[in-house]
Amino acid sequence: MHQHLLAAVAPRPICLASTIDLKDRVNLSPFSFFNVFSSNPPILIFSPARRGTDGSIKHTLENVMQVKEVVVNIVNYSMVNQMALSSADFPKGENEFNKAGFTPVSSQVIRPPRVAEAPVSFECVVDRIIPLGDNPGAGNLVLAQVILMHVQENLLTKENRLDSTRIDQVARMGGQWYNRLIDKSLFKLSTRIDGTMIGVESLPFSSRNSTVLTGNDLGILGSLSALPDLKNRESALELSAVQAIFKLPIIKQEEAFHRLAQKFLRTGDPQTALSILFLSEEQKSAP
Ligand SMILES: Cc1cc2nc3c(=O)[nH]c(=O)nc-3n(C[C@H](O)[C@H](O)[C@H](O)COP(=O)(O)O)c2cc1C
Repeated sequence: MHQHLLAAVAPRPICLASTIDLKDRVNLSPFSFFNVFSSNPPILIFSPARRGTDGSIKHTLENVMQVKEVVVNIVNYSMVNQMALSSADFPKGENEFNKAGFTPVSSQVIRPPRVAEAPVSFECVVDRIIPLGDNPGAGNLVLAQVILMHVQENLLTKENRLDSTRIDQVARMGGQWYNRLIDKSLFKLSTRIDGTMIGVESLPFSSRNSTVLTGNDLGILGSLSALPDLKNRESALELSAVQAIFKLPIIKQEEAFHRLAQKFLRTGDPQTALSILFLSEEQKSAP
């Protein structure tokens, strides 16, 4: 179950949680059962699970139960090998900052130090801890409320926003697989999403059951805010590529229309694509 869950729910962001115990001894450990769950109040949650071997609890959990403060540090690619080193099960009281070679910097509001190398660090107080059971592998949700946020200045845009394309976070997948943002893996959705969209259900029947159009194609078409009007229909009819399709044998027309519509979708003109698909449907139902 553990491996299936890790492979299926991926990529997961990774944080390094910095905590202290009652004797002020520092601990630093990575967690990929981690995310943000609320902006107001700003709440991050990570989950130190009970050890799979004997069901005992991890040092991080012991620490946040005793001292309700944690720095949640974001992990990027240049930290990945040191981060992995810090995950080793060192004896209680060992400072993983030293083991992994990270630089501790005093926090401003809380006692655990933050990681200087981290692109972003959150000073947090522990709002509550929710144990999910006593079995080996049972999670313990640590709800951490952000009090102060540190960001490396070179990651800010002119408008003082964090630039998602520059942080270079790494994420955990299943097994030993990790994931990194590189140019090739980045894309922006251009479609405007609001409640006025026509939806896939409004598309012609043949388009919804097309062997050419993909689910993503249908998603783009369904995001349009209006069905084609008479003017759109006329313009589509005048296209030479459409006229050429009308000259094909009837049996070949539908696929050709769908391929042409897809071409317009790929060049960022979904309105013309939809007009073509309605022409195709008209043609199909013509006596
Ligand atoms: C990338 C990565 C992500 C991890 N995520 C988790 C996690 O979400 N929960 C968990 O219990 N252990 C996780 N681990 C394992 C802990 O980091 C490891 O058990 C560590 O020794 C715990 O340290 P502690 O006992 O000092 O708290 C992860 C390890 C790595 C390398």
